[in-house]
Amino acid sequence: MCGIIGYIGEKNASPILIQGLRKLEYRGYDSAGVAIQDGDTIARVRSVGKIENLAARAATEKLPGTVGIAHTRWATHGGVTEENAHPHTDQSESLVLVHNGIVENYREIKEQLGSEHIYNSETDSEILAHLIGEHIKESDGKLTEESFRLAVECALKEVRGTYGLVVMHKDVPDYLIVARMGSPLVIGVGTDGYYIASDATPMLAYTKKVIFLEDGEIACVSKTDMQTFNLKDECVVKCVEEIEWNQEQAEKQGYEDFMLKEIHDQPTVFEDAIRGRFNVEEGTAHLGGLNMTEEEMHSVKRIVLIACGTASYASMVGKYAFERLAGIPTEVDVASEFRYRDPIIDKHTLVFGVSQSGETADTLAALREAKRKGAFVRGIVNVVGSTIARETDGGTYIHAGPELAVASTKAYTNMVAILLLYALQFGRLKRVALATGERMLHALLEIPQKMNEILDTAEQIKTIAKVYANYDHMFFIGRGINYPVALEGSIKLKEISYIHSEAYPGGELKHGPMALLSENFPVFGIMTKDQLYDKMRSNIEEVRARKAPVILIASQGDDTAKELGEHVMYTPKTMELLQPLLNTVILQLFSYYVAKELGRDVDRPRNLAKSVTVE
Ligand code: AGP
Repeated sequence: MCGIIGYIGEKNASPILIQGLRKLEYRGYDSAGVAIQDGDTIARVRSVGKIENLAARAATEKLPGTVGIAHTRWATHGGVTEENAHPHTDQSESLVLVHNGIVENYREIKEQLGSEHIYNSETDSEILAHLIGEHIKESDGKLTEESFRLAVECALKEVRGTYGLVVMHKDVPDYLIVARMGSPLVIGVGTDGYYIASDATPMLAYTKKVIFLEDGEIACVSKTDMQTFNLKDECVVKCVEEIEWNQEQAEKQGYEDFMLKEIHDQPTVFEDAIRGRFNVEEGTAHLGGLNMTEEEMHSVKRIVLIACGTASYASMVGKYAFERLAGIPTEVDVASEFRYRDPIIDKHTLVFGVSQSGETADTLAALREAKRKGAFVRGIVNVVGSTIARETDGGTYIHAGPELAVASTKAYTNMVAILLLYALQFGRLKRVALATGERMLHALLEIPQKMNEILDTAEQIKTIAKVYANYDHMFFIGRGINYPVALEGSIKLKEISYIHSEAYPGGELKHGPMALLSENFPVFGIMTKDQLYDKMRSNIEEVRARKAPVILIASQGDDTAKELGEHVMYTPKTMELLQPLLNTVILQLFSYYVAKELGRDVDRPRNLAKSVTVE
């Protein structure tokens, strides 16, 4: 996700801002920019690529001034270009802003501003700058600190979506307005000025006294003072906190590892994945990036989901959803196999490449093969502007933000979210009734809260995980939509704890794997209430008869599960097709705590790379 840094004080701003961006590099970015105010002029420099490119440009242009803002961009709307890099300006080029978040209604705002507004970028953030500029034009007389603040408040009240925002205006010198809605912003209180950033990391070198803005708050910062308001322009009293984090802890926002932070990111990034991509009244999804007419969608006779590893297990959940909702035969193909088989692909086949990095060599090669054979080829990827995103004829970004741990967690759940939305979009064209679509969308909207309920049980999951950290082997079993969940749970455990594990459909153990069971071979059963619950119970009873220790994921309220499992972890109920979004979070935490108990490097497990760009 993007990174923001601002400074206002007595020191030369440029080196502080550039160094601050370097401290935010860990967040992932593809371009950067800085703007510094000197009297009534604001100089702006932007560049794609590394911070060093920007630093070189800034050194050449010698940016004088002690007030400024800077930004690292992780593209969500619009490609990786200098024009799309922040800071952005309004129509009159009098104000500049940096923004982190997604303006969901940017199209409506653009239409409301009218054709006289000329934009230099493809971003939703630039439209925010024009909107604030328009409200400034409406304020009478010379722009003051108060009228500037009121214009920002008026503009933000029209915005739907999320923002972490810092804006300054050439006619209001030595004054930064900072606003937060859904994207964190921290204000550091220094002895030589104020520091603003997306997290505490960049300011630790200057101060540990910080003020955390809350959603809906606006801070107006001068060189010597700071006042905070809400969107109703009422004063808000804020307290200064002392943070004890070191640099590394700040990057992980207090979590011990990126993987744990990313597991806990899931409720928030899940909202980013679905935001603005469905319509409850119509009971359907609208994934504009699909880039297919309804006629072309009706012509699809088969869907092929191509991916590797965790992405393939997310795709398997998508398979169940496409077949159940849309009635379209769907298969999941491991990319490294697809490209060397003789796949049956034609103009009635829709192929999705599912990939967090968008750079996985096997997936990319398989998509090229599918394109060659005339299929519709689309991407479901996390990294904007990645090769798969560029080479497919459309698709959808999963908006999980940079995923830094090698083991995929938040990207998995966001892939599932997008696949469910696609299945609903196709399903509503075919056989899904409005009421079913509405019910599914309401269930999707409840997922973040239900994920949080599971995250609140992390300590109980940790206690159970410790019990199983010293076994050498483990089976994961599930049936129906929970079989892909078992596969994902198994890869999570093996890739970060190095414990050997395998996943099987619940009904498959008796066809061979059962021979391995003993009291030294635990079995992790996913036994949530669904149409296959009774059959799954029977499979667990078969396992218990072989004395294997049993761990269960069961639905809240299923007290009988305690009769079957040495340890039971409970999950909130949701629609069957959405249950993997919740069950998987338990498995992520279980694997994480097993690996921590074994002292593993969970963020950088041995032998693995985050993006496998070779065959
Ligand atoms: C995920 O935990 C693994 N690190 C791995 O299986 C990964 O999902 C796979 O390599 C695919 O990567 P991609 O999503 O970037 O294409």
